[in-house]
Amino acid sequence: MSKTLVLGAGGQIGQMVVASLRDSGCEVRAQVREPARFSEGDSFGGSLQGIELVTGDLEQDISALFEGVDQVVFSAGSGASTGFDKTLLVDLWGACRAIDCARDAGIRQFVMVSSRGANNPDNGPERIKPYLVAKHFADKHLVESGLEYVILQPGRLLDEPACGRVTTVRPVDPAEQIISRRDVADAVLLSLGNEALNGKTIELFKGETELAEALAAV
Ligand SMILES: NC(=O)c1ccc[n+]([C@@H]2O[C@H](COP(=O)([O-])OP(=O)(O)OC[C@H]3O[C@@H](n4cnc5c(N)ncnc54)[C@H](OP(=O)(O)O)[C@@H]3O)[C@@H](O)[C@H]2O)c1
Repeated sequence: MSKTLVLGAGGQIGQMVVASLRDSGCEVRAQVREPARFSEGDSFGGSLQGIELVTGDLEQDISALFEGVDQVVFSAGSGASTGFDKTLLVDLWGACRAIDCARDAGIRQFVMVSSRGANNPDNGPERIKPYLVAKHFADKHLVESGLEYVILQPGRLLDEPACGRVTTVRPVDPAEQIISRRDVADAVLLSLGNEALNGKTIELFKGETELAEALAAV
């Protein structure tokens, strides 16, 4: 059975991915910065059983986290409440170092949660351009790493239930460039171990096509 390392596992998408992997009986290692935050309550859908919780920080040496792992999900992000220093150190440099660690460890597949607009930051909202530039170069580093990869570039994330239907074509109206975190988590889960998706960079928005069908059609 393959083992998955989730970076940014304590985040909203990260927790969904970890909980789903655990619930399907898959081996999962979940990187968080402060494990004490997850010892009680409803983290990871209520239970830590079946989850290997590990402490790590993308601003530090994380190479040990990759030992014995087959596939990696990167769903970390510095978030909107931090400055551009963290955009550089986490979204760009932390991601690049994670990619290098994965390559050095011989990881089979790396699934990246990137962002809509990362392909061309000049066309994105000016307000988040530094973030898009960071995501752009992290994605580029992954593409050039020699790793098998899937890059998911979701639109603005919403805390809504899964819609289950998406489009991989960016809607013209920015207000429609949205998707629920649950749908992104499901796209990550469908990407893991899916060789047909390797080498693909996929924008994802709420849409009309069933998720698996939309991914397969890219
Ligand atoms: N917000 C949007 O509209 C949007 C759109 C497209 C793509 N994205 C991307 O989607 C991804 C996931 O989104 P989300 O809503 O699940 O994010 P989230 O809830 O903010 O989770 C991000 C996680 O990253 C972790 N993190 C931050 N700095 C770190 C560091 N130095 N080392 C290790 N982990 C660190 C945080 O860890 P702690 O739990 O320790 O704080 C947090 O758990 C992110 O990559 C984001 O950039 C977001």
